[in-house]
Amino acid sequence: MAHVISLLNHKGGVGKTTSAINIGAGLVELGKKVLLLDLDPQANLTVSLGIQRQPVTIYESLRGESELVPFQYKPNFDVVTSSLDLSGAEMELVNEPGREFLLRSLFEPIQEEYDYIIIDCPPSLGLLTLNALTSSNFVYIPLQTEFLALQGVAKIKQVIDKVRFRLNKKLSVGGVIATMFDSRKVLNRDVVATIQKYFGERVFETMIRNNVALAEAPAQRMDIFSYQPKSNGALDYLKLCKEIEQRCDAAAAAEQEKPQAQKLSTIATRQPMGSMPQGTPDLVAPKQAARPQTQPRQTVDLHG
Ligand SMILES: Nc1ncnc2c1ncn2[C@@H]1O[C@H](COP(=O)(O)OP(=O)(O)OP(=O)(O)O)[C@@H](O)[C@H]1O
Ligand SMILES: [Mg+2]
Repeated sequence: MAHVISLLNHKGGVGKTTSAINIGAGLVELGKKVLLLDLDPQANLTVSLGIQRQPVTIYESLRGESELVPFQYKPNFDVVTSSLDLSGAEMELVNEPGREFLLRSLFEPIQEEYDYIIIDCPPSLGLLTLNALTSSNFVYIPLQTEFLALQGVAKIKQVIDKVRFRLNKKLSVGGVIATMFDSRKVLNRDVVATIQKYFGERVFETMIRNNVALAEAPAQRMDIFSYQPKSNGALDYLKLCKEIEQRCDAAAAAEQEKPQAQKLSTIATRQPMGSMPQGTPDLVAPKQAARPQTQPRQTVDLHG
């Protein structure tokens, strides 16, 4: 079953699309099968990879005219493309029954085929983004390490909390990605410190440095690993992907442990007091024990 990750920040130009493309490509480098979904009417992801207008884009699929038709960009690397038509979708779909779950039902038949599905969200918190959130396990928030990086983050948190409460219990903030980082700039370093203070261990250790090759790659219609595999951009995204893999594996393992842990705690509570032989391992709080350190916490306190 694929890990579904949405890259979300309603602030524009923070590195959502760059991260979606290069996290996708990095995971493929690590031997994973990846589907990228361009859910932005600007279609920046589609254009940046040089994919021509497809007969079926996410727009037609959301309208119920077709199932998803992924385009094979490279071996193990598929893309569901977008088009400008999608800009009308929010209005068109507003009266559709189950409008928040259109994407989730489109994913169902293909979710087993991929290790990761990465969704590039538009810079808004409308119906398209809502569909991304109901379909995802994790939200990753890219934050540009500049002044006002955290502006609007409280709003993102509010939306995620509401979606988790009402529509998708599996959803959590799986990571925060510091982008366009320049270690020579005091401001950048200060902003990273602030981000780390707010988000704690959810901030990925790997920071994506400001790197000209990352900005050039879309003009060459390539991901960074095809364009300049030795650039800092490629190194950073590959390192980030290793962290992502670890976090997702840990989350999946914790999920698998859950029924077992619950069973153990039931047995533990059924045992009459004093009936356990000496030296029996402590069966109390198995959930905690089963939870690897890298497992992200369930909620984020944005206020320290
Ligand atoms: N690490 C980086 N180093 C240099 N340039 C970068 C880096 N990351 C992104 N960029 C550039 O910054 C610009 C904005 O990035 P991107 O399009 O990924 O942001 P976005 O959040 O998807 O924007 P939008 O909200 O409009 O969808 C692009 O021109 C991109 O090439
Ligand atoms: Mg974008």
